[in-house]
Amino acid sequence: MTATLSFDGITFLREWLAAPLRVGALAPSGATLARAITAEIGPEMGPVIELGPGTGVFTRALLDRGVAERDLTLVEAGSEFAVMLEARFPEARVLWMDASRLRAVDLFGGGQAGAVVSGLPLLSMSPRKVVAILDGAFRHLKPGGAFYQFTYGPGCPAPRPILDRLGLKASRVGRALSNVPPATVYRIQRRSQRHPTEGWR
Ligand SMILES: C[S@@+](CC[C@H](N)C(=O)[O-])C[C@H]1O[C@@H](n2cnc3c(N)ncnc32)[C@H](O)[C@@H]1O
Repeated sequence: MTATLSFDGITFLREWLAAPLRVGALAPSGATLARAITAEIGPEMGPVIELGPGTGVFTRALLDRGVAERDLTLVEAGSEFAVMLEARFPEARVLWMDASRLRAVDLFGGGQAGAVVSGLPLLSMSPRKVVAILDGAFRHLKPGGAFYQFTYGPGCPAPRPILDRLGLKASRVGRALSNVPPATVYRIQRRSQRHPTEGWR
């Protein structure tokens, strides 16, 4: 059997070798997971923040959903990934930084994002870092805005005590069984808010 690695696959592997815990996966996510994590997002939501875009698999899916490239803010800690994203998505804003510092950044001059899509490996992060990421992200999200996160694990990668502390709740909204490894998508939102897809009970 001959294994071939794409350009993206090689970049991913190189970043993983340099920082395995930060990258958290050996290869980019597949198209099924990209569709699942972006399924509830559309252009009417306004700006979208993506955390940990890597080579841009979810970024492309956001564009396929009709989100304008200029409405994308891509937050990536890997320098090789950040350079690649700038070349691929010249109209998007690429921030080469740690997503846990988002709270301190003025992203929209008062405006707010409609959604956050996260490919961050939350399971390999300290609870303190997960709190900083969620707290920072929700400061940029408008009321009713949601944070979409995937995981390879059995439950939501943001633990219940952290969600409780920040007044958030999580619901499983998608699955990508054909992804390698299979993944689940969670929507995290403010506890006081109801998502349009949730019926009245
Ligand atoms: C599992 S990969 C996902 C990449 C891409 N979203 C995908 O699904 O193919 C995790 C990504 O998050 C980035 N990352 C990890 N920790 C980060 C942090 N604290 N701030 C910003 N990016 C981070 C990594 O560099 C990597 O691009």
